[in-house]
Amino acid sequence: MSGAPLLEVEGLCVDYVTAEGPVRAVDGVTFQLRQGEILGLAGESGSGKSTLIHGIMRTLGPPGVITGGCVRFGGRDLLSMSPEELRRVRWRDIAMVFQSAMNALNPVATVYEQLADTIRAHEPTASARQLRTRGERALELVGIDPARIDAYPHTLSGGMRQRVVIAIALVLEPRVVIMDEPTTALDVVVEKQILQRVLQLKEELGFSILFITHDLPLMLEISDRIGIMYAGRLAELGPAQALRSDAAHPYTRGLMKAFPSTVGPRTVLSGIEGAPPSLANPPPGCRFHPRCDVAIDACRGAAPPLRQRTTGHWAACVHDSVDG
Ligand SMILES: Nc1ncnc2c1ncn2[C@@H]1O[C@H](COP(=O)(O)OP(=O)(O)OP(=O)(O)O)[C@@H](O)[C@H]1O
Ligand SMILES: [Mg+2]
Repeated sequence: MSGAPLLEVEGLCVDYVTAEGPVRAVDGVTFQLRQGEILGLAGESGSGKSTLIHGIMRTLGPPGVITGGCVRFGGRDLLSMSPEELRRVRWRDIAMVFQSAMNALNPVATVYEQLADTIRAHEPTASARQLRTRGERALELVGIDPARIDAYPHTLSGGMRQRVVIAIALVLEPRVVIMDEPTTALDVVVEKQILQRVLQLKEELGFSILFITHDLPLMLEISDRIGIMYAGRLAELGPAQALRSDAAHPYTRGLMKAFPSTVGPRTVLSGIEGAPPSLANPPPGCRFHPRCDVAIDACRGAAPPLRQRTTGHWAACVHDSVDG
């Protein structure tokens, strides 16, 4: 069940400043994450998914800069918050599990110390007993024996380390969990186990998830809604079911065909010809038009805005119907 908007992103733009000038990696992205929903973000490598998330959380390192738009959490503007206010929001309200999560743990601190540090940073008065109890409970939540709480990360398997990272993300019971390819480095069995646990916890604790993975079938299976990014822009946004059966953007249709269906008849895989454009010099109009088999003259003109096709299903394509 999905409720009111919790995280609102409006017209967000992020540039990387390079020697050749600024490169816009996220260009006017707008969407809302609702209470209790799972929103998946998909798109080819380099389409700006991670940049979007770092922009939302203001964790962009140089040369990344936010050049436009706004981000609100519970109605409060994250982009104008002081570092101190932002620190309070991070982890307590919005937790992150990033692509490099396997390396996110400090190798010279125990699991307990890392869980305790996170709690203490937000609740400086927590007692040692409270820290240990809450740390143990967080480990139990992600399926790790709490007796391992005094272990050092190198004594744990990759899957367990990833569970620890998720335990740290959940220890303050955030309302939003952002996961950028949280299980990419793990084998498929462990990946499935961890995601199933995260989904159970989402039901129990009620947080929302913004989820990035290259595994489109998996994303279709677990997401309520999906946003498709292409060359820094949202090409389509809508219910997972609508994107699966009635994708409106030719790029989304291409992506769907590029992955084997987990249900229904077998189909021939037929990726998308060509490669995404250079962001330093993107094509005019719809950025997908050079690869699009239904492109018309209008596609080379102005960039098509996201338009609502049916309730809650948006696509940035000049063609109205699925068949063009
Ligand atoms: N530090 C950086 N400096 C310059 N350009 C960057 C930097 N980080 C990312 N980019 C560029 O920004 C664009 C978006 O990158 P981003 O990492 O957000 O893509 P992504 O969709 O997360 O890709 P992937 O699926 O591979 O993780 C790419 O063209 C990338 O080359
Ligand atoms: Mg990425």
